[in-house]
Amino acid sequence: TISRVIGRQILDSRGNPTVEVDVVLADGSTGRAAVPSGASTGANEAVEVRDGDPTRFHGRGVSRAVAAVNGAIASAVTGLDAEDQALVDETMIALDGTKDKGRLGANAILGVSLATAKAAALAHRQPLYRYVGGVGARLLPVPMMNIVNGGAHADNPLDFQEFMIAPVSASSFADAVRMGSEVFHTLRRSLAKAGHSTNVGDEGGFAPDFANADEALQFVVRAIEDSGYQPGTDITICLDPASSEFFRGGAYEYAGEGRRRTIEEHIAYLKDLADRYPISSIEDPMAQDDIAGWEQLTAEAGERLQLVGDDVFCTDADRLLDGVEGGYANAILVKVNQIGTLTETLRTVDTAYKAGYRVVMSHRSGETEDTTIADLTVAVGCGQIKTGSLSRSDRTAKYNQLIRIEEELGRQAVYAGGR
Ligand code: PGA
Ligand code: ZN
Repeated sequence: TISRVIGRQILDSRGNPTVEVDVVLADGSTGRAAVPSGASTGANEAVEVRDGDPTRFHGRGVSRAVAAVNGAIASAVTGLDAEDQALVDETMIALDGTKDKGRLGANAILGVSLATAKAAALAHRQPLYRYVGGVGARLLPVPMMNIVNGGAHADNPLDFQEFMIAPVSASSFADAVRMGSEVFHTLRRSLAKAGHSTNVGDEGGFAPDFANADEALQFVVRAIEDSGYQPGTDITICLDPASSEFFRGGAYEYAGEGRRRTIEEHIAYLKDLADRYPISSIEDPMAQDDIAGWEQLTAEAGERLQLVGDDVFCTDADRLLDGVEGGYANAILVKVNQIGTLTETLRTVDTAYKAGYRVVMSHRSGETEDTTIADLTVAVGCGQIKTGSLSRSDRTAKYNQLIRIEEELGRQAVYAGGR
């Protein structure tokens, strides 16, 4: 039974305020969760409530969301059974009363939702991945590690937001982290040698002044090879252009390159990159408002490429079903704060599985030391996670938690690579 709910304002990895919640049960079990925050957010995400008071935290304070946790939400969920996650989440959804959780704030609601699950897991003396996923939860994900940052996550001219590596031939998750780390450090050396900056962006990947995606991809491929791995066999490349960010007036504005591509040209360009580099997955290849483009690319390249919907689905089961019906994308990015409760997140994952869409669990560009998504990835057994680079504790915290989970599972653990 939930006996206390405590919300507080803490800082995220970008130094912005965010919500942290402790849920205390009658037996003393205490779950704690901190809420992440995006920079290149989808238009239809659940709403994070910020104070908008310019005299405090430049308007980005979350004291109103924290007050909702400590006030209305605490009153409504105190006394509820923490094991009844659906009841706790539905109580908050009803209390909020809006479609986008904009009254109390998805940041307030998600903090309570995740902290409730963590408290209940503790009360059961189970790790979170097992409490949520059951005894069958033993699949460790292939990580998509974001080693070059651009777009809204860095100040460089790179139009695409993320260039990631996926160590598919690793023998275990820990081995995948080793491979990724080796490539990351090899890349650092080659950037320094070429006179590029080795400063990192919001997700811990390098953010040099690359002129275009080709230059970034050449450096990444060379770093894979120079680390002793076979691009495409040992390590594949995944992109997140975050195309909604540069879709304007019905075309794709590559500001960094200083050129504009029509929808046709943008599709042709992506397909050309996938022909010339060992790319296995592209997230948000098309903008959230370019459904026709999504349909065309999926028809033309969906057989050979994983096409992951982030902004276009916003972790919403109904939006995903639009994609299933319309025949666009073949995978969905799952971000807990895009939808705002654990119950809805699990429903979206189930919807994806039923439709034959793959699932990639994901962090946000603004993160904290919270590692809940690592456990959720194993709980749902989706086999893929993207949680940033091989540097910065907000990113490595998730990888480190997955290393611990793999160790705990021992011989039961299965690494999703090579599937
Ligand atoms: P965001 O970026 O967290 O800034 O939205 C992540 C992504 O686009 O996948
Ligand atoms: Zn994305």
